[in-house]
Amino acid sequence: MAISSIFLLATFSFIYGNAVLPIEATHHVYRNLQSLTSDSSNQPYRTAYHFQPPKNWINDPNGPMRYKGLYHLFYQYNPKGAVWGNIVWAHSISKDLINWTPLDHAIFPSQPSDINGCWSGSATILPGGKPVILYTGIDPMKNQVQNLAYPKNMSDPLLREWVKSPKNPLMAPTIANKINSSSFRDPTTAWLGKDGYWRVIIGSKRNTRGMAILYKSKDFVNWVQAKHALLSAQGTGMWECPDFYPVLNKRPFSIGIDTSMNGDDVMHVLKVSLDDTKHDHYLVGRYNIANDIFVPYIGFEDNQFVLRYDYGKYYASKTTFDDGKNRRILFGWVNESSSVADDINKGWSGIHAIPRAIWLHNSGKQLVQWPIQEIESLRVNPVNFPTKVLKGGELLQVPGVTAAQADVEISFEVNEFEKAEVLKSWTNPQILCGKKGAAVKGGLGPFGLLVFASKGLEEYTAVFFRIFSYQHKYLVLMCSDQSRSSLHKDNDMTTYGTFVDVDPLHEKLSLRSLIDHSVVESFGTEGRACITSRVYPTLAINDKAQLYAFNNGTANVKITRLSAWSMKKARIN
Ligand code: FRU
Repeated sequence: MAISSIFLLATFSFIYGNAVLPIEATHHVYRNLQSLTSDSSNQPYRTAYHFQPPKNWINDPNGPMRYKGLYHLFYQYNPKGAVWGNIVWAHSISKDLINWTPLDHAIFPSQPSDINGCWSGSATILPGGKPVILYTGIDPMKNQVQNLAYPKNMSDPLLREWVKSPKNPLMAPTIANKINSSSFRDPTTAWLGKDGYWRVIIGSKRNTRGMAILYKSKDFVNWVQAKHALLSAQGTGMWECPDFYPVLNKRPFSIGIDTSMNGDDVMHVLKVSLDDTKHDHYLVGRYNIANDIFVPYIGFEDNQFVLRYDYGKYYASKTTFDDGKNRRILFGWVNESSSVADDINKGWSGIHAIPRAIWLHNSGKQLVQWPIQEIESLRVNPVNFPTKVLKGGELLQVPGVTAAQADVEISFEVNEFEKAEVLKSWTNPQILCGKKGAAVKGGLGPFGLLVFASKGLEEYTAVFFRIFSYQHKYLVLMCSDQSRSSLHKDNDMTTYGTFVDVDPLHEKLSLRSLIDHSVVESFGTEGRACITSRVYPTLAINDKAQLYAFNNGTANVKITRLSAWSMKKARIN
């Protein structure tokens, strides 16, 4: 099918696609909306294999850990409605990180130091195997303070009951320490130095300077604030949900290591969730534990080059070391792109991304992320295409998969480099993707996937590459274009994008998308760039959704691999 005419129709939508909706105010309490019930009969947007509870609001993943062979995931949850509020730690367990069983809430307001909410935090496994949790409590004065909880019965592999330390709060803002009492939250997993001191960081800010405040303790109960923060950066605003962990800087890179490991072959990663932009940024660098100094290779001063885990919707993430499979696993919250009114209508809001294995790329410059291998157990009915040239303007349907619930991998080889569009000056990649969406014809690209496509292409979400020639090099842009994702326009349809550090002259351009009813998680060039989008098609739902490969450039590209699977439903909560 020739696609130019269909794409022409779409051009007007870029204006729409570029419009960035205002970010919801942090911790806004919707007092009148807390206990509305909803009609659950028509639910095309509930996911089949992404983590979500049966109803209500969820946000951050908390305290993920492996204990006695079981994975535990806690999460910020509102038991009373589909908007943020009344926050407790809900709790689910799993053997494979795919199928989850819900348990009773693990941590909920019960003592003065958390009476107004049990906010985010992390688990640490102490030597000897005892798990403990540090979390933020909201006290009677609405101050943010840090609390400790531990299992009532360590022989219960389900860790159903949690006891709070009578010494709570263990860390609190005071006049002396000058910590901002409304910006002091989300303790990390602690790490232990050879000096016998545990260290933990807490997210904070002073005016607009975001910071990771460092505390130390010998016994995990008495914590003393260190003289300096682990890191801070002017102009970045509140740092929520920090995460700090080592990655191996030698082969095999993909092996994960315990959070307390350090040494010559190790680099450290500091991730912070920027409240102002709702993006998770990370810095790779060297950490000297003797003086607790972390020096990132690229800091926030080089703003535009600071990397993100995901260039779409992905926030408040957290890693854990999985000692069963020696890997580091990343969990992240994917918020809705729909309006609050729509969320209340459907009775739920928020999902978690598929857990990702995460490690240092062998360049040492960035991380690589890949869906945990267990997700492949849901794949059925594989569809494999032979190598094929996808001509400029060509659209190729991938039949035989349940396109609203699928996993697809595609690889492209490109040759006609002389056809690459010239990029005169560096441009913000997200803005470039917004201007040059899937419908804008190019030279070398756009080529990629159309997911959640309706039969007449009235709706589709496009995930694609576009190659530019820039300063005697080739620059690869990866985009997720939501501008035509739904005929219902009351959604945030911002187009997302990033440049990918890949050399298209010598490497294939691969793309994998996990498609699940209202979410598309895309992994470019074997996990070097990720983009997650939430979309709400009105036509391309359930068995009406279709999947295509497309090329809207003038140059031909070669598909060297195209494999797609229908995905089974996971047992989730
Ligand atoms: C991040 C966050 C955390 C806080 C929690 C409250 O999304 O704002 O900083 O602890 O959510 O639910």
